Amino acid sequence: MLLNASGCLDALSAPEVARSLDGYVTKTITPEPREGNPPVRIAETRAGMLNSIGLANPGRERFLAQTLPRLRDLELPIWVSVGGFSVGEYAETCAALDGEDGIAAIELNLSCPNVDEAPEGAIEIVAACREATDLPLYAKLSPATWNMAEHARAVEFAGADGLSLVNTLRGLALDRNLRPTLGTGGGGYSGPALKPVALAAVYACANAVELPIVGMGGVRTGLDALELIAAGASSVALGTLLFTEPEAPARIRVELAAEAAARNLAHPLAARRMALGSSPESVVRIGNEFRK
Ligand SMILES: Cc1cc2nc3c(=O)[nH]c(=O)nc-3n(C[C@H](O)[C@H](O)[C@H](O)COP(=O)(O)O)c2cc1C
Repeated sequence: MLLNASGCLDALSAPEVARSLDGYVTKTITPEPREGNPPVRIAETRAGMLNSIGLANPGRERFLAQTLPRLRDLELPIWVSVGGFSVGEYAETCAALDGEDGIAAIELNLSCPNVDEAPEGAIEIVAACREATDLPLYAKLSPATWNMAEHARAVEFAGADGLSLVNTLRGLALDRNLRPTLGTGGGGYSGPALKPVALAAVYACANAVELPIVGMGGVRTGLDALELIAAGASSVALGTLLFTEPEAPARIRVELAAEAAARNLAHPLAARRMALGSSPESVVRIGNEFRK
């Protein structure tokens, strides 16, 4: 299953791009509308992109009243990305989405600024959201930790149905005058440089839990997607790539099928968990190497 990464595609302005995917993931929605951060919000770097959008979004009420009905017209499974600044804010939005038609899953953006990213914080958020909705809950985790496996186990324990891996890493770019390029100083780093980071996160979490995983981070080719599947992902999401190549989904599908066929695999998903090897014990040992 091919998805977009949250915040990297506006399905209402580019419906044909959304329809080339198997599901559409919304930009993160917060209870109140957010203007987002002051400009400059995007900076190019040699191996990726920095953004400090600051979760600009119309807020929960307008999303439900205006955006969601128009998204339904796309007739695609809709994944709603939910953010917040407290456990209660996440849970309230999940409760509000619970009775709505057309929502395939909720992706909890657990990498929001000002929200505790420790496993305990994530546990509380996921557990409260679990109480608030029967919709499938995917926990989107930050890769900025050596304890990916611990985080994965924590959110599984709290009731998550799946994982989305990974969000951006914090980065900084300086302009000609050696001042931060982005209005906020640092920002989220995405794009090609994130691929090995995403692969390591998916690999570590697939070793730790049985949950389905949406793999993302720096995917540019079908081989990138196949590698994420081999590390344990069951779906792949395209992010930064969509800004420069909106027609990438069709290319990635063709390449993915060709890369699988070149390895005598009947289907790309036949590669799932191939990187993990056959001996569970050695897999766990290798997984633990990530902690060092
Ligand atoms: C401009 C931009 C906006 C983003 N907005 C969100 C967001 O609202 N919520 C979220 O969970 N992730 C957001 N992300 C992170 C992406 O969903 C994805 O996790 C990350 O970019 C890694 O994938 P990529 O390297 O393929 O872009 C954003 C990324 C970019 C580049």
